[in-house]
Amino acid sequence: MIIPVSLEGRAYPIHVVDEGLGGLGAAVAATLPTGPIMVVTNPVVGGLYLDATLRSLAAAGFSPRAFEIPDGERHKSVATWATLVEDLLGAGLRRSTPVVALGGGVTGDIVGFAAASALRGVPLVQVPTTLLSMVDSAVGGKTGVNSSHGKNLVGAFYQPRLVYAAMQTLRTLEPAELRSGLGEVLKHGVLRDEALFALCEQQGERAVALDGAVLGEMVERSCRVKAEVVALDEREDGLRAILNLGHTAGHAVETAAGHGTLRHGECVALGLVAEVRWAAARGDCPPEVVHRVEAAVARLGLTIRTPPLSPQDLLRAAGYDKKAARGMLRTAVVERIGAVRLEAVGLEELPRMLALLP
Ligand code: NAD
Ligand code: GLY
Repeated sequence: MIIPVSLEGRAYPIHVVDEGLGGLGAAVAATLPTGPIMVVTNPVVGGLYLDATLRSLAAAGFSPRAFEIPDGERHKSVATWATLVEDLLGAGLRRSTPVVALGGGVTGDIVGFAAASALRGVPLVQVPTTLLSMVDSAVGGKTGVNSSHGKNLVGAFYQPRLVYAAMQTLRTLEPAELRSGLGEVLKHGVLRDEALFALCEQQGERAVALDGAVLGEMVERSCRVKAEVVALDEREDGLRAILNLGHTAGHAVETAAGHGTLRHGECVALGLVAEVRWAAARGDCPPEVVHRVEAAVARLGLTIRTPPLSPQDLLRAAGYDKKAARGMLRTAVVERIGAVRLEAVGLEELPRMLALLP
């Protein structure tokens, strides 16, 4: 299955394959000329999938070289990016040399930014190996690293030349990481795809149990939603901000509870419940939407209970002070399953939204 991302002059395919990484080399060779290619991964993913990646690329005529970056969000830093760029340049990187990001969203974001910045841009191939990276971070061209001032504050919009999601790689993922991705899948359903939402609602347990057909359809449909939104508003001048549905309240929980307590997608699911309850309380969507979202969250094995956090801590974590300077909160308002609108609401809505966390 190939899903196109239709960006003028920078269009690219997302391959979603049932198998492992055996077909990667052929897919890359269909898009980029063969020759040297640099594969970057971390020790965890490298231990599982580096050999298969290198073999596939070599069989397709490439001369691959492997590079390692450390695992974990705490290494998504300017220091890791700088070391990687130096390593790639030291190994003879040229403007035409593709760089492959093999791993989850942390790897994809760091390697993507290295590919965007080294030699002012070299071809990037995203090979996402977590559900979250398949349905979200590998698609759409946001790359970057964290700074001491906050998350993702250093980076670039830089689209890959192709994305290759090999569904078999999900079989080695920790269950909590799979759940995290399911939170973003559910978000895409609520945003723009009622059939995807129904799949979560009706087949949630099968996805948790790694049913290939269900997960494959979820990845494909999610990628279509993200690809459509990105094609309409690549640089988030407007519409793309709808992808932040569930993130205002979810991010507040993630920050206030301390990163690592709950996974990102688990917090997004809590945020989705709060934001849908908020929309229903304002009369923007019918109450049954709330019940359906709550039930779908539970069926996907996601938590429906926010850790105990004070309203003050949540408000602070939601960036109330920074938002107060702007005076408004720009948020996606759910109208029904599969339809949202973007609206700037008064900041007094933020504590109301947070109070509706489950
Ligand atoms: P991650 O990259 O840290 O991966 C989670 C863990 O799973 C890591 O330890 C990783 O080594 C391991 N792993 C990866 N693939 C595996 C596999 N197949 N089998 C076993 N273990 C595997 O986390 P993530 O959830 O993929 O990504 C989170 C990051 O993505 C955050 O930094 C977030 O800011 C970023 N993000 C970016 C965008 C974007 O648009 N660029 C969107 C959403 C999230
Ligand atoms: N994850 C939100 C975006 O890519 O815009």
